[in-house]
Amino acid sequence: MKKDLLSISDFSQQEILDLLEKSADLKDKRQKGIEHLPLKGQTLGMIFNKHSTRTRISFEVGMFELGGHALFLTGDQLQLNRGETIRDSAQVLSRYLNAILIRTYDHDEVIALAEHASIPVINGLTDLNHPVQILADIFTIKEKLGRIEGVKVAYVGDGNNVAYSWMLGASLMGMHLAVACPKIYQPEPAPSLSGTGEVEVLEDPFEAVKNADVIYTDVWISMGQEEDTENKKKLLLPYQINQKLVNSAKKDVLVMHCLPAHREMEITSEVLDGKHSIVFDQAENRLHVQKAILETLLLKSI
Ligand code: CP
Ligand code: NVA
Repeated sequence: MKKDLLSISDFSQQEILDLLEKSADLKDKRQKGIEHLPLKGQTLGMIFNKHSTRTRISFEVGMFELGGHALFLTGDQLQLNRGETIRDSAQVLSRYLNAILIRTYDHDEVIALAEHASIPVINGLTDLNHPVQILADIFTIKEKLGRIEGVKVAYVGDGNNVAYSWMLGASLMGMHLAVACPKIYQPEPAPSLSGTGEVEVLEDPFEAVKNADVIYTDVWISMGQEEDTENKKKLLLPYQINQKLVNSAKKDVLVMHCLPAHREMEITSEVLDGKHSIVFDQAENRLHVQKAILETLLLKSI
């Protein structure tokens, strides 16, 4: 039976713990130069309708390192963006490929693709959510703190796709998530949550970072939302991750950002390049975790 990854809630808590263990093993193998080619002969099709550095490269390199092959396809190169239906495209792609990664705008398109494809479909970000990012972030937190359950993450900024996936992930993994956003930019609609974690949505960033182990942010203006942004940026100014906010948190608080960062907007360079920041380790871990996702889903479907 094929398994898709469209949202964090497609995985159980135990499946995520297994995935994190596999990620650590793959990271260790890579560091030791141990060849591991379980996906020999398999091909991942990667459809991108939005820009990407980390997602594209981590999946493409990941597939190569696991012995498989990845095809980078922009929506404009496919008949899909010329009117061929998702249903027909899904059936045809399923005859050639072993899995599809897709980054696009409308989450429903990804659901439809998965419904009509007979191979696993992986969501590489939609306007609604970004599950592969949050799985890698949880891995990074476990690596840095040695635990997941009970860890407090303060997500400060825009209540976007990354915030939405954080809400699902934190709840499922028994974490404490405090999201701080201006009222009109809080995640809407809020996801329905399962698991033992605690998720609160606040307006005050200083309240959110109190006792937090991790402060997390993302861009204020997501891809596809680039119009009429001046008012939004003004309302988000008090939510900038700067030294004052970091100083108000725990002494050893970690700072994360999924990147790309807009320096001096949602985060200052002083913090991004400072001693609390783990953003580049976080970015590296995308590779190890995306490889674990590929191995898990592709081996399951053959
Ligand atoms: N964080 C993330 O998904 O980065 P890209 O947009 O570069 O893929
Ligand atoms: N919220 C951002 C995430 C980029 C990785 C966006 O959707 O553009």
